[in-house]
Amino acid sequence: MVRKIILDVDTGVDDAMAIMLACLSPELKVDLITTVSGNVHVDKTSVNSLKILEAIGVEDVPVAKGLSKPLLRKLETAEDFHGKDGLGDSNLPEPKLKLLEKHAVDLIIEKVMNSKKDELTIITTGPLTNLGFAMIKEPEIAKRVNEIVIMGGAFGISPYGYGNATPVSEFNMYVDPEAAKIVLESGAKITMVGLDVTTKPDTLITMEKYEEISSSKSKPAQIIAKITKKLIERYGAYALHDPMAVAAAIDRSLFKVEKYHVEVLTSDGITRGQTVADRREWMKLLDENWEKRKNVYVCVDVNSEKFLTLFMKRLVY
Ligand code: RIB
Ligand code: CA
Repeated sequence: MVRKIILDVDTGVDDAMAIMLACLSPELKVDLITTVSGNVHVDKTSVNSLKILEAIGVEDVPVAKGLSKPLLRKLETAEDFHGKDGLGDSNLPEPKLKLLEKHAVDLIIEKVMNSKKDELTIITTGPLTNLGFAMIKEPEIAKRVNEIVIMGGAFGISPYGYGNATPVSEFNMYVDPEAAKIVLESGAKITMVGLDVTTKPDTLITMEKYEEISSSKSKPAQIIAKITKKLIERYGAYALHDPMAVAAAIDRSLFKVEKYHVEVLTSDGITRGQTVADRREWMKLLDENWEKRKNVYVCVDVNSEKFLTLFMKRLVY
């Protein structure tokens, strides 16, 4: 059964790959792409999303621009990593495709409220500002969506589960922890694809894999090679954070998933945006609501080979 999705992105380099994977996978139908500030400002993440769709010849997926800053905090971007343009300073051609007039938050609400219950899945690969705001405006969306798959969080459950924005916080949660708190407490079915799995060493694109990608004749591969050139030159490898969240919506069996009560910290400093999974299973002896309090399915491991095979088959080979 094809899953209808809304993809909420802060198109950056790995979001671009997530857009391509989602649009070019038969298991998914992308009903709408919504953009938010994160890696770069939403003006750029919006144009970048259109650039990527146009580059792969997908012209029937609508894109709506969303919020330009976190709910309460000043925007902090990641241009040092994703480049000034957000796509590795690759200077892809300006798109002819246009954004929808309507605001992303209103369209998320409209699409979900006009769909049948459980018909739509929302995949987020950026800060949760749009979804958090939408849930304030229309809390019902949490009950109507089939699932929310979030690229975000760092749980310290796998050996790779430390932070990237701070030693304990992952960037998407760090940028807008208040929005993340709203979403995590919404009661929706939530799966989090965090750094515990997205930075697993044998899922990274290494120089060897990069050469395989850059020698491919496929259009998506040529775009990936262009937008990741600076990353591979600078770091020698890069993670597929956002494509892995899309993969979780395509084939959940790629992951080992455990359900926990998860909270996100809205503090300042080193713990800002930290996601804490309560793993004290003995608490069920003391708390009759222990199981009910579990609100997030956390991806704690991934079948690296199967994930990379999916990614390469869909976009490179
Ligand atoms: O921490 C990685 C996440 O933050 C990815 O979604 C990346 O694109 C940035 O948004
Ligand atoms: Ca992202």
